[in-house]
Amino acid sequence: MIKGKKIAFYVTGGIAVYKAVDLMRELIKRGAEVRVAMTPSAGQFVTPLTFQVLSRRSVSVDTFSEEDPSVVNHINIADWADYAVIAPLSANTLAKLANGLADNFVTSALLATAKPIFAVPAMNANMYRNPITQENIRKLAERRVTLMKPDIGFLAEGYSGEGRYPEKERIISELELFIRSNQTELPLEGEKVIVTAGGTRERIDPVRYITNDSSGKMGHALAVEAWKQGAEVILVTASPLAVPSYIHTIRVESAQQMHEAVLEEFNDAAAVIMAAAVSDYTPETRETQKMKKKEDLTLRFKKNPDILKDLGTKKTAEQCLIGFAAETEELVSYAKQKLRDKHADLIVANDVSQSDRGFNSDQNEVTLLTKTDNPRTLTLRDKSEIAGEIISWLINYID
Ligand code: PMT
Repeated sequence: MIKGKKIAFYVTGGIAVYKAVDLMRELIKRGAEVRVAMTPSAGQFVTPLTFQVLSRRSVSVDTFSEEDPSVVNHINIADWADYAVIAPLSANTLAKLANGLADNFVTSALLATAKPIFAVPAMNANMYRNPITQENIRKLAERRVTLMKPDIGFLAEGYSGEGRYPEKERIISELELFIRSNQTELPLEGEKVIVTAGGTRERIDPVRYITNDSSGKMGHALAVEAWKQGAEVILVTASPLAVPSYIHTIRVESAQQMHEAVLEEFNDAAAVIMAAAVSDYTPETRETQKMKKKEDLTLRFKKNPDILKDLGTKKTAEQCLIGFAAETEELVSYAKQKLRDKHADLIVANDVSQSDRGFNSDQNEVTLLTKTDNPRTLTLRDKSEIAGEIISWLINYID
């Protein structure tokens, strides 16, 4: 969502400026083009040079230092950007923006900004709660500025209150939501996509279970990529990993629970992507009390439902089924067999015998197999990129 976006990053005065450095780096890491402008008071906390070195671009502070005579700098940054991000937004700049003041580079550029504006207010709790500040927040919200709610927590003043600069992860998640809501005609708009993730747990007794090495990273990355393309995403996950708040998430533990949750959502879904590592077997009986130690132990297992196979028999011609194949040998031939047996439209085959891919790593290498096309390998790369390619395949298929 952030990749390739031009972001004008405005920094205003407050102790949270030091945290803004990290946020700016994260935006760059995610592929955004970032230009920074600061108020003079922001520069009292962290120098413009810090932002300049880390963004590798000059930082604007003074309205009257026009280095390039072919442009008016504060208008140029406003027109150049796809989005304006103000982080942190101080009570002072908030009041100026709400009343149309343009007395420094930042306020002048923001008054000239016709692009969507996202702001992260951060200040002392009493300043934030002050009715004048609240009135200014309302005014800006009415003018379609998106303002995050600050965190409640320990403030620089030594006491707890509302006004704290939120954690970077929360800012990124809300910023992604903001960017998506400002985009029109996304390819999966109006389509419901179910994604499963994680390794199911099959209980033996109240404190013991069998599971596998799936972390849920691959499935969660698919859910985020489908959401970025406009889908209504239902993530059915057995993984404890955090999920962005904008993804509708159903937490499950066992294969049986995953089966029920997926079937419940299936009828009006355009696609199901089964990235979960579903246990094929579950203990025949589940002890209600913790099992006592014995000389030896034999457990009997029964078969779990095969969710993908079951969906393959139920699906309509309009519904798309994507399965994974986790193999340690004969990757393509076993995956082809799964494509046939489970009536899938796409099988994503991955080799799970190596530690740098597959289970529980940040990267994966996969081969895409369909009934009609030649196998296509996506070489080792981040799971988010693999997920992006799979969602691109889905978009073409639905088209
Ligand atoms: O979670 P990560 O750590 O990021 O790791 C990602 C992954 C390796 C788990 C993922 O890329 C992957 O390969 N997921 C499928 C794992 C698996 O169970 O593969 P399988 O070959 O055993 O099953 C084939 C397909 O049938 C899968 O889509 C699986 O979800 C589905 N299945 C399997 C058994 C079952 N009872 N019901 C199913 O629906």
